[in-house]
Amino acid sequence: MKDFIRSLPKAELHIHIEGSMEPEMMFALALRNGLRLPYGSVEEVRGAYEFNDLQSFLDLYYEGARVLVQEADFFDLTAAYLKRAHSDGVCHAEIFFDPQTHTARGVPFEVVISGIHGAQRAAARELGISSKLIMCFLRDLSTESAMETLRQAIPYKEWIIAIGLDSAEVGHPPEQFKAVFEAARKEGFLSVAHAGEEGPPEYIRQALDLLHVSRIDHGVRCLEDPELVERLKAERIPLTVCPLSNVKLRVFNTLPEHNLKRLLDAGLCVTVNSDDPAYFGGYVAENFRAVSEALHLTDEEIRRLADNSFEASFLTEKEAKGSRQ
Ligand code: ADE
Ligand code: ZN
Repeated sequence: MKDFIRSLPKAELHIHIEGSMEPEMMFALALRNGLRLPYGSVEEVRGAYEFNDLQSFLDLYYEGARVLVQEADFFDLTAAYLKRAHSDGVCHAEIFFDPQTHTARGVPFEVVISGIHGAQRAAARELGISSKLIMCFLRDLSTESAMETLRQAIPYKEWIIAIGLDSAEVGHPPEQFKAVFEAARKEGFLSVAHAGEEGPPEYIRQALDLLHVSRIDHGVRCLEDPELVERLKAERIPLTVCPLSNVKLRVFNTLPEHNLKRLLDAGLCVTVNSDDPAYFGGYVAENFRAVSEALHLTDEEIRRLADNSFEASFLTEKEAKGSRQ
């Protein structure tokens, strides 16, 4: 099973680079930057990763991101993720980053993006893995802060394929970011948004109607709204589903209760992704393996999930074909 999944060419479309920081790297970067961590050991960090909901995770995730200071830190983080993803059979990754998490601490935008971009280029050259970058706005911060972040991104437009929307969902509906997404669209950015992870199906509708996103991140709550499911199917809007994340953050109590198979059976373009693999106990192949076992997916269904990842990506058909070879 593991070998079958690894050998399937896959694209990963929902991975927060800050969420790929393993505790070992957290300690190494804290040391490099002369920072103290509130943990005594790598084991203690891993032991702290018990979450009740999205917010309880985000509190630790933002705390952990404080060790990212220099360009080399962002380079090393991204290089480690791409190497790990490559070993899982990922040919192409579309990577989220959260600039506000860093610029709010005084780390310049340029430092963040230069480190990430440098590692993307090195991995393409050395491993043959392609990748694109998606800049996320933190929805629990102001729209003014998002606009300012968009302004900072303009000189790096060529390095960023799309914008996204993440962080605490409930109480921060997509409609609040309509103007920011409109301004980004005028600059040529594509867009995606987290919606329907903890938030209601209405947030998915808003992301489609008001933000004009190309795909929905998570989206699992769409099944509560049959008309919305019909629309997602008819318009072939992809969902970037993250099974292990959903169990860790208690969107579903257990993996056998996950609705991924029902989403597939409804004819939706479902993909499997790791979200924040260092925090949720598995990279993309482990997400495929665990969900396939828990939901008794057939080989044909597993293949369909992998195929969907290329269809849902921002690669052209020709690029996707080249990427899978
Ligand atoms: N930031 C990192 N992971 C996230 C998730 N699963 N949902 C919202 N924001 C996030
Ligand atoms: Zn996410």
